[in-house]
Amino acid sequence: MALVDVLAAVPSGSPEAAIAQGLDFGRLPRHVAVIMDGNGRWAAERHLPRVEGHRAGIESVRETVETSARLGLCVLTLYAFSVENWKRPVTEVSALMGLLRHYLRAELKTLLRNNIQFKVIGQMDRLGREVREELDAAMARTAANTGMVFNIALSYGGRAEIVDAARQAIARGLTPDQLDEETFASFLYTAGQPDPDLLIRTSGEMRVSNFLLWQIAYAEIWVTDTFWPDFRARHLLEAVADYQKRDRRYGAVSSDTVEALK
Ligand code: FPP
Repeated sequence: MALVDVLAAVPSGSPEAAIAQGLDFGRLPRHVAVIMDGNGRWAAERHLPRVEGHRAGIESVRETVETSARLGLCVLTLYAFSVENWKRPVTEVSALMGLLRHYLRAELKTLLRNNIQFKVIGQMDRLGREVREELDAAMARTAANTGMVFNIALSYGGRAEIVDAARQAIARGLTPDQLDEETFASFLYTAGQPDPDLLIRTSGEMRVSNFLLWQIAYAEIWVTDTFWPDFRARHLLEAVADYQKRDRRYGAVSSDTVEALK
């Protein structure tokens, strides 16, 4: 996947096409993680029930998955439902689960056609049996795909993930001297995947909300005021373009400083 694949999906001469043409495809983020936020406010602005914001957000999910695969990202992670979201009214929770099942039914063929591997990260045992069965089926059907990994974070909490990983390490009988950062990461839900290079958050909030706490240690953060249901390919491409302007230092000095010191 590359520029031609992105250009095939956006109107020619559009702002999206111009941004895509300016990207360096040799320097894409390998993993993009997204905190999808603002569905409720999007609905409130239109005097609609909150669930209509979630429903409209499905089209943003569809377009983000497709654009990410066309770009050639290795991993896309979307934060769909946090452990804290269980505190929402039961009607909203069940509407969200219904939308998720609807999405899977409608999009599984597209995931298969695009060689996308679908994964769930989070405490799946807390989900209802029917949703779990459908998620399991989608994971099994796409398990042999070799293209982009699409993680959906469901009943997910970053602290809970870290505690789960620690429990697993203890259960496997690891001794303190056997445990380093790499070994610890192999017990996380994202084992074997690169850490996010870019974290996107919609609706203007400046928080990480218990999302991939271990994995975002060095992620670049890009926040847009756009509410999730209005998030489109253009926003993703803008985020990637902005990411490519950043100087990632990982705690070291900037590349300009390195040059100046030579
Ligand atoms: C945050 O908006 C969004 C969520 C908690 C759910 C995201 C879910 C979807 C986009 C639909 C289903 C997902 C998939 C992957 C098919 P909010 O409700 O917190 O908005 P607010 O902050 O404006 O109230």
